[in-house]
Amino acid sequence: MKVHILLGAPGSGKGTQAKRLVEKRSLIHLSTGDILRDAVSKGTEIGLRAKAIMANGKLVDDDTVNGLVFARLQNETGDVLFDGYPRTLQQAEALGNFLSLQGIGLGFVIDIFVPQDALEARVVDRMVCSNNSCGAIYHLVTKRPHEEGVCDLCHSPLKHRADDCSEAFRSRMAEFNTTFQPLQAFYKGTPHYRSVDGLRSPDEIHATILELF
Ligand code: AP5
Repeated sequence: MKVHILLGAPGSGKGTQAKRLVEKRSLIHLSTGDILRDAVSKGTEIGLRAKAIMANGKLVDDDTVNGLVFARLQNETGDVLFDGYPRTLQQAEALGNFLSLQGIGLGFVIDIFVPQDALEARVVDRMVCSNNSCGAIYHLVTKRPHEEGVCDLCHSPLKHRADDCSEAFRSRMAEFNTTFQPLQAFYKGTPHYRSVDGLRSPDEIHATILELF
């Protein structure tokens, strides 16, 4: 068993690429954002705590997120693709220790780079499928559904994420700018790390990532 990691800023395309890659390479997609949004919608104890933090674009505390991830990893047997985790140096170190203890290998750490000025428009015009088990990702300008407001794949209504307004986006970027450099430095220079140009089309980025695998 191995874990692979997608790194990148809010709106860099981690979810878009993860969904395509897991179909092609039989990976298990673990998005901490999706896991937390599911907890919020179910009103679990963690969801109740995380709701306002996420809506304000802040990060949920490391211990909570590490606990959720390690519990999930213990139940998986196939190779995993992380999207949105680790997000801080503390999470990366804790994951490294957990993988060593469990004898799980680290595969690729793919860093999708998109300049900051291209990100906000991607996020504020994003629509997502309201059916959590589908979660397809759209964009009001660059990736419109065939029928307005309806998911092409499962026909559920589309919705805006609660944190996809300009104000929350700026807060998410501020968190990213504080936490990302030490996280990136943790992996950069290791044989696992690859940087990918995220300004190209989703198809081109997908082809580059597939080549790695
Ligand atoms: P999370 O859900 O992980 O959000 P994020 O990291 O901010 O990333 P996004 O989902 O916004 O963007 P993405 O990179 O997946 O881009 P996407 O493919 O959708 O986290 C949400 C919150 O949960 C956090 O703020 C935090 O509160 C909490 N959280 C989660 N993980 C945590 C952790 N580990 N620790 C602590 N807290 C945590 O694409 C975006 C848009 O761009 C779409 O509309 C898409 O169609 C479009 N697009 C995609 N690719 C391209 C392209 N190549 N060209 C043009 N448009 C594109």
